[in-house]
Amino acid sequence: MKQIFPGVWKKGNRLFTKNLLPGDKTYTKTLLKFKGNEYREWDPYRSKPAAAILKGLKTFPLKKGMKILYLGIANGATASFFSDIIGKEGVIYGIEISERSIRDLNPVAEKRGNIVPILGNAKLPNEYSWIEKADIVYEDVATDDQSEVLVRNCKEFLKPDGFAMIAIKARSIDVVKSPKTIYKQEISKLQKHFKILEKIELDPYEKDHMFLVMKWM
Ligand SMILES: C[S@@+](CC[C@H](N)C(=O)[O-])C[C@H]1O[C@@H](n2cnc3c(N)ncnc32)[C@H](O)[C@@H]1O
Repeated sequence: MKQIFPGVWKKGNRLFTKNLLPGDKTYTKTLLKFKGNEYREWDPYRSKPAAAILKGLKTFPLKKGMKILYLGIANGATASFFSDIIGKEGVIYGIEISERSIRDLNPVAEKRGNIVPILGNAKLPNEYSWIEKADIVYEDVATDDQSEVLVRNCKEFLKPDGFAMIAIKARSIDVVKSPKTIYKQEISKLQKHFKILEKIELDPYEKDHMFLVMKWM
């Protein structure tokens, strides 16, 4: 096991985070003991940040104690790994439009204690204007206006020196245009607001997705 980022370990080609809830196997297949601690395997086929890391991402800004705004948190599968990384002192505000997904997220959030589930529309940040400012805004909503939604939320909630991460899903933006054309188009929109630190295509883990790590300008 080798630590590759704060809170993220690699063994061979497999990723792990330190389990905030030892013994709990939610959203992982494997729990691994190493030097007295327990680690959860982070599956790149089920989580885009894990796919980006295994594809060679060099900038992964999550750290202990950070506050994260997560747009499109769904059932909390990826968020549970972010929750391990930021630890008990951190917090994830998770926005999700589907009541069904929020129902699945609630017990995970309750056990972990550092995830705040919010039933709401990420296109309407006024619905959750009460949240704290975030060190990181992560967006995985798969809508055709993904980039605009990210910018709108960063304007409201991202700290001046904060980071944004987005998983662009080409097929949700346009089913006809080629993914490469869509990535170019979205990057040119995002570049008006962010310095793009890294961009990585996620295949074979996720087809037609690009993961970006950016700094607010
Ligand atoms: C690709 S899934 C997210 C998977 C999740 N990020 C993970 O890795 O565990 C996209 C999610 O965005 C949600 N979503 C779509 N439009 C939304 C919106 N306008 N506001 C909030 N959530 C939205 C969907 O309901 C869905 O749960």
